[in-house]
Amino acid sequence: LATDYSQIVRLITIGKTVEGRDIVGLHISKDFTQSATKPGVIFMGGHHAREHLSVETPLRLTKKLLERYQAGDSEVVALVDNRDIHIIPAVNPDGLEYDVSSGNYRSWRKNRRKNPDGVYGVDLNRNYGFGWGTGGSSDDTYSDVYMGPAPFSEPETQAIKNYVEANKNITILLSFHTFSKLVLYPWGHTYDPISDNQAQRVHELMAKKMAGWNGYTPEQSSDLYIASGDTTDWSYGELKIISFTFELDPGQFLGGGFYPGAGIIEEVVNKNWKPYLYLIDHSDNPYRVLNEK
Ligand code: ARG
Ligand code: ZN
Repeated sequence: LATDYSQIVRLITIGKTVEGRDIVGLHISKDFTQSATKPGVIFMGGHHAREHLSVETPLRLTKKLLERYQAGDSEVVALVDNRDIHIIPAVNPDGLEYDVSSGNYRSWRKNRRKNPDGVYGVDLNRNYGFGWGTGGSSDDTYSDVYMGPAPFSEPETQAIKNYVEANKNITILLSFHTFSKLVLYPWGHTYDPISDNQAQRVHELMAKKMAGWNGYTPEQSSDLYIASGDTTDWSYGELKIISFTFELDPGQFLGGGFYPGAGIIEEVVNKNWKPYLYLIDHSDNPYRVLNEK
């Protein structure tokens, strides 16, 4: 994509993984000298190794965006020309690779950190530094929700932290996961709502709007279950970025769980196209949803 659309896309590297792989992404801007002056939005996927659809979806949404831009779709052209768009589709490439490299899926979730006791993996979505270690995560290295020895102990979460903090124009964040068909918003570490009523309302309204397009269920993250140290509690809690987690298709384990097959990709991309454009659009001021119907 960076090659095919080189006028408006740059391939970026935001850091390296535990095993030394580059964590790559795409930066889309009409004019890279002006990008920091435009409203910014960031999409990410692939925190969890077995959630391959969470990688494919932001990648293919982005491919579609670039194709439509090239084709002169006026809505897309207006958005791309006036926004600063960042996509990190594979936050955990070590895990993703480990999950497929034997030829049989391993149902791996964590990164590939070799912990001091020899057990592998930290759950990257329990390793972010806001309310870290306050529930729904574990200090047991054998656990699939092992939080790590300290907040941001992992190079992958560090890389996201550094990148998001460096791009101060970012007002909206979406992290793709699978599966369950949910649109989630903070908090995840507590059942309490966000104390800023307006920010709470913005999350609710946007989640509901997007759910109307993709057919998912909008709810507070902790309504799914309490989990601390996830991406969105940090990005909202620390940086006041309006933040969402999508749990993509399928709805259930019986629908294919983490491995629904490539046949589902197109449908999932199509149903999430409008939410994707909506988030890009509203990065100028997410609080304007308070005055929209
Ligand atoms: N399934 C994801 C995970 O376990 C989503 C977490 C959303 N946050 C939450 N607090 N429930 O990492
Ligand atoms: Zn996940």
